[in-house]
Amino acid sequence: MIKSLDKVLLQDPKLNIHALKALVENSFDSILITDATNRTRILYANKAFKKLTGYSPAEVLGKTPKILQGAATDKTVIARLSKTLSAGGRFEGKAINYKKDGTPFLMHWRVVPVKLGKDTSVLLAIQRETSSI
Ligand SMILES: Cc1cc2nc3c(=O)[nH]c(=O)nc-3n(C[C@H](O)[C@H](O)[C@H](O)COP(=O)(O)O)c2cc1C
Repeated sequence: MIKSLDKVLLQDPKLNIHALKALVENSFDSILITDATNRTRILYANKAFKKLTGYSPAEVLGKTPKILQGAATDKTVIARLSKTLSAGGRFEGKAINYKKDGTPFLMHWRVVPVKLGKDTSVLLAIQRETSSI
């Protein structure tokens, strides 16, 4: 029988952080973590983010994912993202983004808010290139 993720992780508290770290670092999808303030500064980017966008994790630290946007980015999608996140919701959408070398591509991404402590929360993003709107 397949156990729930909660049960698997609780089985061994050490597995918890090690397993999740390995998943994030080895994910084929790009993963970004930002703080949850309006400035949404990037706290972490995995290797797949570099493969997707051309930006290294080190050079995007402290910046916002807005660096991926440009002239052809659909403003209505971004407005929906801002509205949804301000209301504490989770977002999923597609929009034109730009790689570091300026190449446009269609980004498909989700943003999920996660509360860590009483006063701390982060926003987690999972991103991939797609070919269809
Ligand atoms: C975790 C996270 C990931 C994001 N990823 C992307 C992305 O891949 N592409 C994109 O165009 N915008 C992305 N955004 C949206 C921008 O960072 C920004 O929030 C949006 O442009 C609205 O900014 P504003 O409210 O300051 O105008 C992401 C935002 C967050 C919080």
